[in-house]
Amino acid sequence: MMPLAADALLVQEVAPRDGFQIEPAWVPTEEKIRVIDACSRAGFSRIEVSSFVSPKAIPMLRDAEEVFARIARRPGTVYVALVPNLRGAERALAARADELNMVMSASETHNLANMRMTREASLAGFAAIMEAVAGAPVLVNASVATAFGCPFEGEQQADHVLEIASRYLALGVSGITLADTTGMANPRQVAALVRRTLELVPAERLTLHFHNTRGMGLANVLAAYDAGARRFDAALGGLGGCPFAPGATGNICSEDLVNMCAEMGIPTGLDLRALIAESRRLAAVLGHDLPGQVAKAGLNRDLHPKPDFVTQ
Ligand code: COA
Ligand code: ZN
Repeated sequence: MMPLAADALLVQEVAPRDGFQIEPAWVPTEEKIRVIDACSRAGFSRIEVSSFVSPKAIPMLRDAEEVFARIARRPGTVYVALVPNLRGAERALAARADELNMVMSASETHNLANMRMTREASLAGFAAIMEAVAGAPVLVNASVATAFGCPFEGEQQADHVLEIASRYLALGVSGITLADTTGMANPRQVAALVRRTLELVPAERLTLHFHNTRGMGLANVLAAYDAGARRFDAALGGLGGCPFAPGATGNICSEDLVNMCAEMGIPTGLDLRALIAESRRLAAVLGHDLPGQVAKAGLNRDLHPKPDFVTQ
C-alpha cells in the first residue's frame, strides 16, 4: 500500500457488515462477495466483511464463513470481522480474518439489547479473546457503540467513554472505534471527545464511526478531522444500522464522504467514480433507493448542457 499523506483521510468500508445486517430482504452470498471485491478494487485499506455473531440475532450475516472464504483478497487491504464473544473470535480466526472488531456499548441498556449481556460480561469475553489470539497473526480493534448517545439512556458522559477506551487499551487492542450508533452526535461534542481520546491513542489507531440518522454525519467527520482524527467508517450508498437500536438508520455514505474530501483537497486514495458506479449497482441489487446523495446528483464537474433558450 502507498503510504498516505499526513492530511489524508482513511475511509474504511462497512457496508458488507453494518449495511447488510439491517436489510429486510436476503442479500445472496454471491452479491455480498461482488460488493466486497468491488470495494477491494476501489482501493479501500480496510473492509468490514461480515460478523461472526449468532445467526438468530443477525440472520443476514449467517454466511460469514463462506463470504470470507470466497472474497478476492487484495494485498494491503485489511479484512475485518465483527465479533461479540470468544465463539465469534474463534470462527473469525478459522475464516482467516485479518482483524477482529470486538463491540460493546457505552450504555448498559444498549449492550443488553444488542449483545444480550452486561458490559462486564462483554469485557470478560474480550479478555478471553485477547488470550486466545495471543501470538496469532491478527489485529484486534475494539468499538464503543453508543459512544455519543444511546437511544434508550440518552447522553453518555465523555469520562465514561474514555474509561472504556482505557480498559480496551489495557487489554492490548491495536485500535479503538468510537461509534455513534444512532446518529446522536453533534460536531462540537465530537471535536471534544476526539481531542481527549487522542490523548490516549494516536490518530493511526482511532476510528470514528458515524451514522447519518439526524443529518450531521459529514459535519461530524469534519469536526473529528479538524480535531486530529484520520480514520472513518462509512458505507456505500449510506446503508446500515443496528437492528437492536430503535430508529437506527444508515452509516455516513462512502461516496459522499470521498466526494467531500475530493472537493476540499483532502486525499483519500479512493476511486470515486468506481464507488459511485458500485453504489448505483447496489441500489439495483437491493431493489430500493439508497440514502447517499452523490450517486444521484453526480459530481460537481459533471456539467449539464445549457437549455436551448440560453443563447449566450
Ligand atoms: N456465533 C454463532 N453462534 C453463536 C455465537 C457466535 N459468536 N455466540 C453464541 N452463539 C449461539 C449459541 O450457540 C446459541 O445457539 P443455540 O440457541 O442454537 O444453542 C445461541 O447463539 C445463543 O447463545 P447465548 O450464548 O445464550 O447467546 P445470547 O442469546 O445471550 O446472545 C450473542 C449473545 C452475543 C451471541 C448475541 O446477542 C449476538 O450475536 N449479538 C450480536 C448482535 C449484532 O450483531 N448487532 C449488530 C452489530 S453491533
Ligand atoms: Zn454502525
